[in-house]
Amino acid sequence: MNHNDSIPETLPVGEAALSTIAMPGDANPAGDIFGGWLLSQMDLAGSIPATERAQGRVATIAIEAIKFHRAVLVGDRVRCYAEVTRVGRTSLTVRIETWVSRLGVPGMMKVTEGVFTYVAIDGNRRPRPVDAQVPIDAQVPVDA
Ligand SMILES: CC(C)(COP(=O)(O)OP(=O)(O)OC[C@H]1O[C@@H](n2cnc3c(N)ncnc32)[C@H](O)[C@@H]1OP(=O)(O)O)[C@@H](O)C(=O)NCCC(=O)NCCS
Repeated sequence: MNHNDSIPETLPVGEAALSTIAMPGDANPAGDIFGGWLLSQMDLAGSIPATERAQGRVATIAIEAIKFHRAVLVGDRVRCYAEVTRVGRTSLTVRIETWVSRLGVPGMMKVTEGVFTYVAIDGNRRPRPVDAQVPIDAQVPVDA
């Protein structure tokens, strides 16, 4: 179901990196969710594949091409999908989409999208090279 005819209906792109509920404390006085809260969720979501791909700590250096398609409401279930789209020498670009589902409304709606750039950093917070030999979709083993 398309809830805004100006936005083509698509499916989320990328891995389901983060899922949460929009709470009253995340809203403005009118009851809609702050864009800054959504940006922070997207930043967190993007850092997950970036950290895995960089095999270590990353820092956000830039946010571009952000678009807020629709309002997010208190109680919406918020999901961020993220995929690494470019790996540079020390930086990684991650495309992130946010989708919500709302009680009583069938399907999911895309509410934001944007492009975040992260830099792999070392223990002194300085840029470090990302290993160019690891494929973009490689998974980092997690110790049990
Ligand atoms: C991340 C940080 C360590 C990078 O150090 P730096 O000296 O600025 O980085 P460099 O100039 O060497 O650039 C590092 C990489 O970022 C890329 N980069 C720099 N500015 C960029 C921008 N505006 N957009 C996209 N990429 C950018 C460079 O092209 C380079 O990529 P490459 O190695 O793949 O070619 C430093 O900028 C920093 O600590 N920033 C604060 C991070 C932070 O606190 N983030 C949280 C947000 S509040």
